[in-house]
Amino acid sequence: MQRELGHTGLSVNAIGLGAMPLSISGRPSEVQAFAVIEAFVAAGGNFIDTANVYCLDDDDIGHNERLIHQALQRIGATEQVIVATKGGLRRPGGAWVVDGTPDGLRLSCERSLQALQTDRITLYQLHAVDSKVDLRRSLEALIRLQEEGKIAHLGLSNVSTAQIEQALALTPITSVQNRCNLFDKRDCRSGLIEFCQARQITYIPYSPVGGHHGHLRLGREPLLGQLAAKYQVSPYRVALAWLLSQGGHVLPIPGASKVSSTQDSLRAVELALDADEIAAFEQLPDL
Ligand SMILES: NC(=O)c1ccc[n+]([C@@H]2O[C@H](COP(=O)([O-])OP(=O)(O)OC[C@H]3O[C@@H](n4cnc5c(N)ncnc54)[C@H](OP(=O)(O)O)[C@@H]3O)[C@@H](O)[C@H]2O)c1
Repeated sequence: MQRELGHTGLSVNAIGLGAMPLSISGRPSEVQAFAVIEAFVAAGGNFIDTANVYCLDDDDIGHNERLIHQALQRIGATEQVIVATKGGLRRPGGAWVVDGTPDGLRLSCERSLQALQTDRITLYQLHAVDSKVDLRRSLEALIRLQEEGKIAHLGLSNVSTAQIEQALALTPITSVQNRCNLFDKRDCRSGLIEFCQARQITYIPYSPVGGHHGHLRLGREPLLGQLAAKYQVSPYRVALAWLLSQGGHVLPIPGASKVSSTQDSLRAVELALDADEIAAFEQLPDL
C-alpha cells in the first residue's frame, strides 16, 4: 500500500516510522535504535518522521536526525528512505517550547541540514504555530529557505483547518501532521482529514496508537480486543488499519523503540476492516 506525499510525485509505504522514542528520555541504546531503523527499512518502510527536538534538551538538539542518518548510511539506504523533519520548537532544560521566529526557524533548518548530512530536506514541517509570532512570518521564513533550495516541500503540524487555509493562500502545503488516534478523533469529527484529502495534502496522524505512554490503553479497549482476536493480529495493527481506512492520503507514523513494534506496525497494511467495524470505531467516545 503506497501513499503519494501531497502531489509531489514521491511515493512511500503507507506506514512510516515515528522516530521520537529513539531519542527522548527513556531512549534505548544506540545499538537497539539502529536495529529498529534497520528492521523498519528491511521490512519495506521508507518514510521516517523526525524533528530537531527529538532529543533530551537544547544541548542534544539533532540527536534523532543524526541517529537516523547514521543508521541509513550503515545500511546504504540514504537515497531510498525519505526523512521528514521539523523546526519550530526548542528544548531549554528539557522543556518543549514553541519558537516560530524567522531566525529560530532558519537556525533549526540549517542545523537539521547538517545533522542529516544533506543539501536539501525533502519534507520540512513547521512543528507548531507560535502564538507569539504571526503564522505568515513563520511561513515566509520557510518559503525563503525553500527558495534557497534548502527545503523541497513544506508541511505543517499541530494546526487547525483555518491555519491550513491561511498557509495555502501563501504556498503549496504537502502534509499536515496532527495528533489522531482512536482516543483522539478530533480531526475526523472536524472534517480536517477530509479537507486535506480534497486539497491533496497528505494527512500524517501522530501518536497513532495512543502516544508514548497512552498506547498501553489499546490492550484495554474491548472492541480492539475482539477484532484483534478475530483477525489474529495485535490491537496495534487494528488501530492502524482503522486510521488507514480514513483515506488514501493518510500516512500513520507509529513510534517504536523495539524491533518487534515496527515490524508489527508495518503489517497493518495487510488488514482491511469491514465497513461495520470502521463504523463501530467511529461510535467509540474519545477516552
Ligand atoms: N508533530 C508533533 O507534535 C508530534 C508529537 C508527538 C509525536 N510525533 C511523531 O509521531 C510519532 C509517533 O507518536 P508517538 O511515538 O508519540 O506515539 P505512538 O506511535 O502512538 O506510540 C508509540 C509507542 O507505541 C508502541 N507501539 C507502536 N506500535 C506498536 C506495535 N505494533 N506493537 C507494540 N507496541 C507498539 C511503541 O512501543 P516500544 O517503544 O515498546 O516499541 C512506541 O513507543 C513520534 O515518534 C513522532 O515522530 C509528532
